[in-house]
Amino acid sequence: MFPIERPRRLRQSENLRRLVRETRLSPDGLIYPVFVKPGEGRRDPIKSMPGIYQWSPDTLVEHLTEVYHGGVRSFLLFGIPSHKDSVGSDAYDPNGIVQVALRQLKEALPEAVLIADLCLCEYTDHGHCGVLVGDRVDNDPTLDLLARAAVEQAKAGATVVAPSDMMDGRVQAIRRALDQAGYPDVPIMSYAAKYASGFYGPFREAAENTPAFGDRRAYQMDPANRREALREVMLDLEEGADMLIVKPALPYLDVLSDIRQAVEVPVAAYQVSGEFAMIEAAAQNGWIERERVIMESVTSISRAGADMIISYWAPEVSRWLQG
Ligand code: PBG
Repeated sequence: MFPIERPRRLRQSENLRRLVRETRLSPDGLIYPVFVKPGEGRRDPIKSMPGIYQWSPDTLVEHLTEVYHGGVRSFLLFGIPSHKDSVGSDAYDPNGIVQVALRQLKEALPEAVLIADLCLCEYTDHGHCGVLVGDRVDNDPTLDLLARAAVEQAKAGATVVAPSDMMDGRVQAIRRALDQAGYPDVPIMSYAAKYASGFYGPFREAAENTPAFGDRRAYQMDPANRREALREVMLDLEEGADMLIVKPALPYLDVLSDIRQAVEVPVAAYQVSGEFAMIEAAAQNGWIERERVIMESVTSISRAGADMIISYWAPEVSRWLQG
């Protein structure tokens, strides 16, 4: 074939490379995760996540208004309550922190896509994602609490609810509860393939949800499993999920690619806190080019099949894309 075939012909200039580029990112597909806690005027830095903060509702509204006008229109909310208990009450309290923040954001940014993360781990004093029986997370009683939380989030103005607990049957329980409460149009974006990952390390500082004992391996997926992700996806779709999330992103691109090929619904990938922290730390040391590596990582996630990317860099990536 050589020298007739010369792939380098199409790499000769920046404009030619842009013309034939296979993966094109847009701010439209970016989702920005944020942490909110009670109080006023707060902007508490998270040590392991440089540039990311815990906000109070008032400063969060200001921050997201700016981010919204910078091109990112979708946000994923995590709450850090002032009070934790064994059953995670703040998650389904009408005046729980996420509900308070949702109401304020809905008023300030009525067109924004407000995605409420739906889990109990930030709200339980033991830090697990459900209620306990002894040392074990009890699946079915947890479903009722998740369903209640989903309804409160919808009432407070959530556009979408995103269950991240990995209990079996939760999508169906949440769908039923939303429908019965008069919210048949609130979509469910389920963390269908969520792995028990070491890459969540920095998030545990950010969301203050480190399990008091043990780990999450009895409910989150085993990192060694690929086919099982498809099983989780099919179950969530049968139960009524409208969109899916794969999490983490970069270490699980094979799983993402499999899922993208297997289903028709929109698929998101979550570039988690550890992925963020690794790149930030290497960049701070001058070991990698920060912007270049961030864009390469986000592009890889998109190339593997993500329609949407949940990223702590969303505001910056959006600016660079429009730059
Ligand atoms: C649990 C939850 C976690 C993350 C999002 N939702 C952590 C966990 O399972 O311990 C991690 C996100 C990140 O690391 O950026 N509700």
